[in-house]
Order: sequence, then C-alpha cells, then structure tokens
Amino acid sequence: MSSERSAIILAAGLGTRMKSTKPKVLHELLGRTLLGHVLRSTKAVGPDRRIVVVGAAADQVTAHLEQHAPDVETVYQAEQLGTGHAVRIALEAAPDLEGTVIVACGDAPLLRPDTLGRLVEAHEQAANAATVLTAVVDDPTGLGRIVRDEDGSVLRNVEHRDADPDELAISEINSGTYAFDAAALREQLAKLTTANDQGEEYLTDVLELTREAGLRIGAVVVDDATEVLACNDRAQLAGLRKVLRDRINTDLMKSGVTIEDPDTTWIDVTAKVAPDVLLRPGCQLKGATAVDSGAEIGPDTTLNDTLVGADAAVVRSHADQATVAEGAKVGPFAHLRPASKLAEGAKVGAFTETKNVEIGPGAKIPHLSYIGDATVGAKANIGCGVIVANYNGTSKEHTEIGGGAFVSCNSTLIAPVTVADGAYVAAGSTVTDDVAPGELAVARARQVNKEGWVAKRLPGTVVDEAAKRALKDEESSGE
Ligand code: UD1
Ligand code: CA
Repeated sequence: MSSERSAIILAAGLGTRMKSTKPKVLHELLGRTLLGHVLRSTKAVGPDRRIVVVGAAADQVTAHLEQHAPDVETVYQAEQLGTGHAVRIALEAAPDLEGTVIVACGDAPLLRPDTLGRLVEAHEQAANAATVLTAVVDDPTGLGRIVRDEDGSVLRNVEHRDADPDELAISEINSGTYAFDAAALREQLAKLTTANDQGEEYLTDVLELTREAGLRIGAVVVDDATEVLACNDRAQLAGLRKVLRDRINTDLMKSGVTIEDPDTTWIDVTAKVAPDVLLRPGCQLKGATAVDSGAEIGPDTTLNDTLVGADAAVVRSHADQATVAEGAKVGPFAHLRPASKLAEGAKVGAFTETKNVEIGPGAKIPHLSYIGDATVGAKANIGCGVIVANYNGTSKEHTEIGGGAFVSCNSTLIAPVTVADGAYVAAGSTVTDDVAPGELAVARARQVNKEGWVAKRLPGTVVDEAAKRALKDEESSGE
C-alpha cells in the first residue's frame, strides 16, 4: 500500500442556516475561521496534498485560502449534490492520488490533531479500506447513526432522516471525518446512488458499499465528543466557541497562567500567554497577542495583535497592534491604537488615546491626553489634557517631545513641532514653535483682572451678592 497521505476538506455548502452572506466555513472562532481550524488539524497529520472542495461563495473561500493556505488545491463543485458527490469530483480532479485519503468537513473545527492522527494510524495499521471517526453523544438529532452488528463490527451509516425508530435510538454518530484507501474509495464512489430522502450522493454510503465489496471497514470512537461538534447555525457557533474557550483556558491554567474568571476570558488560539501572567475577568486576547510572565491584564481589557512585556499592567483598556514593554503601565480606560510603543516603565493612564507613538522609558502620559504621530523621550512628563494636534486636515505631521521634557496641563502641540530634551511648556499653552533645551514656552494670553466688574455688569445676581458679602467681610476684618 502507498504511504502517501492526502486530505479532502468539504466546504462547498453555503450553510443556509447561518443566515449570512458569508459562507459558513469563513465564520470566525477564536482566531481562525472554521475552515482555518480544519486546515490546521488536517495539516498536522502530514498530508502530501490538501484539496478543498468549494462551491457556494467560492470566490470568498478561495480568496481566504490564497491568503492563509496558499499550498492547498481547490476543486469547484458547482451544485451541492451531496458529500459523496463532493469527494467524487475531488478525486476526479486528482486522478493520480494514492494511499490514505482523509476526508473532513469544513464546518467541524474542534477536532484535535492528535485525534485525527489516531484515526489515520488505526486505519493504516488495520489496513482498512475505510475507517470512520465516530462519537457517542447524548443528543444525536440530525446526525448519521453508526449501525453495528452483534459483535460490534460496523455495518453502515444511516442518516437521521432515513433512519427507522430502532436506528434513531443509536447514540453513536458519524463525525463526518474519515480515512479511506484512495483506490477503494474511488471504486465505491462510482456506485453511489441518490436513493435517499435528500436525493443526494451520500459519502456515508461508502461504508456499506466497502463492506459489501468484501473490504475491511472500521471505526475509531473519540474520547471527547465535543471534538466532533459541527456548526450549522449561529447558536451552535456560540456553543463551539465556548468549548474552544474552555479548552484554551484549561491548557493555559495548567501551564501556569492565572485566569480569575475563565467564563469571561476569551483567548484566540493564536495568542500566547506566559506562565505567571494574571488575567482578570473580562479579557479578550486576540490575534498575535503575546503576554510575558508577571504581567497583569484586565479586568475588561481587549488586546489585539499586542505585545505585553514582563511585569507590565494593562487595566480596563483597549489596545490594537501596540507594544507595552516590561514594567509599563496602561489604563484604566486607555486606548492604544496601532503602532503605539511604550518602552520599559512608561505609563499611559486614564482616558488617554495614543497612535503611532514611541513613548520612551519611564515617560508618563497619565491622564486625558491624545498623543499621535509623535515620539516622547525618556522620563518626559505629559500633563493632564495635553493634545498633539497631528492632523491639519490634509496631512499627518510629526511631533517630537524630548527626554525629560515637561509639558504642563491642557497644552496643545501643533505638529510639526519639537519640544526638545529638558524643555518646559507652561500649562494651557498652544505650542506652534520649537522649544529648545532648557527653555520655557508660555503661549497663552496674560491674565487681566477688572475690579468692580461684577457689581457693574451683574448687579443683584448670586455672584454679585457673594462678592458683596466677601468684600464686606474683608472690610470689617480690616477695621
Ligand atoms: C454529514 C453526514 C452525517 C454526519 C454529519 C456530521 C453525510 C450524508 N452526512 O451530515 O452522517 O453525522 O455530517 O456533521 O455525509 N458539502 C459539500 N458539498 C455537498 C454537500 C456538503 O462540500 O454537496 C460539505 C458542506 O459544506 C459541509 C460538509 O460537506 O462542510 C457536510 O455537509 P452537511 O450538509 O453539513 O452534512 P450533514 O447533513 O451535516
Ligand atoms: Ca453539517
């Protein structure tokens, strides 16, 4: 027998029950599409070729594959005439394919690579012509039932809608994942009919046909039935997401991550969390996010493609494509937009938004600021309410704030402008000209006090009465 292995992934259905313009297999599940998860698990068993059968919304599925799995081949199934038909045309498009053919469904994303490996190994060791992955489930509604004889040998699969009451009572179901011998599979596929309730070519009928041809068929039962869950509507999608969430969180907790509330912590399969990280309730770690040891994240924080260094803290904040180096502090209520880079020990505090900014070691932007398209030197202090006006309506301009610079509260820096190392900006300034090292910039009107103005302009008002009282008190204490 050939030692070749290949995988056929069925993804031609639209998934009508999703009620979506997007094909079902492109819906997202903690960092990958449903199809992306299946591509990943099938790749792990080392196939020489992977063929995806596309049909409904084929453009979208093909574009997704070109981006995320350029090595896979696609076969176009114009009409969805059944799972058997889909596999048949895939094999027709790959006439030289030999050895083991794994067939998996694009809508069943939770299968562990190890389990698929166990199926393929059992299949090859027993030299079966067909081996089906099955599960024993509490609620088999809608799924194919595995019919066995008295001594436990698999006889066939019967679809729910074609099953009689005895068959409906069977709790062992077909997962929709199989390993076949290519030559035997080709032979049986040619015999498929559409004599069933849906009038489709059922791949499941290959099991019975294989046995009738005198060839060996077998079954591998999964230990964890959640691995074979498929997604047909959005309620099931949410169910799958919880299963995967729990799996990811359990693995992380076993590896040394503290997760205070696993039910409200959503971590993509692509994110990395080091041991001794503390995740407080309500966090989402998405994409290529990585959090280093000793960092504390949350509560209620979303990090997308964001790197957080050791012993840093991000509290009640939102970060996208940001870098938070060792010991840096973010939040509460900060918004780090793309290319915000905090060096070691830097701080971005409450109600501050940053974008495309390098914030030097130990620099502080503690409250109510917007800093964009800028560099902030080491140990600079940006006071409350400082705004960098980086956009003039046509272009974005750069602002340079030097090391140790002190920009006092409620100042506006109009880009492009430089506040040099050790420069000082007085509170409430609107800075349009560069400030050199050691200089004070004061850019605001001088204060003018006009005596008697209230009595003249606002006679009899609350202000006037308060002023009169105060002036009288002053007079009597002066006597
Ligand atoms: C299928 C199995 C059923 C099994 C269940 C597990 C058959 C006949 N039934 O049922 O025994 O318990 O999966 O989830 O195989 N597809 C195509 N082209 C087609 C038809 C389907 O590519 O012409 C794809 C779908 O997009 C989907 C997968 O095949 O990704 C499964 O098809 P679906 O219609 O969902 O099969 P089920 O009714 O769920
Ligand atoms: Ca299905």
